[in-house]
Amino acid sequence: MPLPADLRMVMVRGQGSKVHDAAGKEYIDCMLGSGPLLLGHGRPEVVEAVRKQAALGSTYFALNEPAIRLAEALVEAVPCGEQVRFQSTGSDATFVALRLARAFTGKDKVLKFEGGWHGGHDVGQLSGAPADPPPYPTAVPDCAGIPAAACRDVLVAPFNDLATTADIIDQHRHDIAAVILEPLQRSLQPVPGFLEGLRDVTKKHGIVLIFDEVVTGFRIAWGGAQERYGVVPDLACYGKAMAGGYPLSAVVGNAELLKLADPYQRGKGPYCFVSGTLSGNPVASAAGLAALEVLRQPGTYDRLRAIGRRLTEGLEKAANSAGVALQVLGDGPILQPFFTDRKPLRNHRDLLHADKQKAVRFGLELIRRGVYCTPGGKIYLSLAHTDEDIDRVVAAAGEAMKVD
Ligand SMILES: Cc1ncc(COP(=O)(O)O)c(C=O)c1O
Repeated sequence: MPLPADLRMVMVRGQGSKVHDAAGKEYIDCMLGSGPLLLGHGRPEVVEAVRKQAALGSTYFALNEPAIRLAEALVEAVPCGEQVRFQSTGSDATFVALRLARAFTGKDKVLKFEGGWHGGHDVGQLSGAPADPPPYPTAVPDCAGIPAAACRDVLVAPFNDLATTADIIDQHRHDIAAVILEPLQRSLQPVPGFLEGLRDVTKKHGIVLIFDEVVTGFRIAWGGAQERYGVVPDLACYGKAMAGGYPLSAVVGNAELLKLADPYQRGKGPYCFVSGTLSGNPVASAAGLAALEVLRQPGTYDRLRAIGRRLTEGLEKAANSAGVALQVLGDGPILQPFFTDRKPLRNHRDLLHADKQKAVRFGLELIRRGVYCTPGGKIYLSLAHTDEDIDRVVAAAGEAMKVD
């Protein structure tokens, strides 16, 4: 749907929790660059680190000190972390993790969950948002240009339904290289036992378990979803918040798997090409290191959870007094409103019953009232948001949800 003319803005400046458009209007930023700005805009520690490194050289296509130090920080923070390979985008990271899993197992198929998002490559663009989904495990493309062969190699399962998923895995166990998922799928929390069950069944069949932590990494806990939900995968994909708003991503995990990407491995057995012109870029690595230094300070995750709770409760209260059926899903500083009274909401097909058009209208009305967000999508919060910001978002939401 094209944006209404009054909402087609060009952003010119971001500072702290605010962004400003070219017409001079200020917004509370709940988009945060689609997630990376967990510290808000222009955090001085990050700006200084970038300024310093940019003066020393913007790229070398060689090992560099900021990338080495960031890799060390990742191995320390991430529960499955033994080794690291850097790329530039979250899509690169999930693509590389899947290739490593195929190289390691010698198998082709991948199981993903309906409604899960893993980026712009062919696997990422399958069954991410089907409006009229076919029976499991058939995959359907989300956009044109996806080869039929990609569909054939992807099996689709329902998030939070361990029995159906285990059944599909069991039927295809000889062909599946990897199971990939967002442990918090968009804003759907895993039900107790789901991630644990996936861990068990993948281990039993020698299938690589990949957590896509591009959104959850360093956001819902220092150790990401693995720490928060207590399940450790074989590989994890990082991006967004890890790099403090600069282009960098990583695959972190089991050394046996990551070793396949070692260029010295070429000609000695399975070797998996993983490289890119700007992978492990020193400016982005310096930004990431500075961001992690801020995030590792005590109180970070209590604060992020506290503002998430404040906004959730505020939205629920506003919906109550407006007589609107609303449920707020998410975890910590990731929230998403769904306009429905249907319960429980546990997977993509449940969410299809929510009023999507109302959610989009609500988002557009929020933007009109100075809250920048993805209409119908997630609301991201940062350490830069104050309680006053949250209360202003709640006030705007109270008005926005009454517009029909
Ligand atoms: C869970 C998840 N994985 C992967 C990606 C792809 O990241 P990028 O847009 O940096 O390629 C995204 C992007 O939103 C994401 O949310």
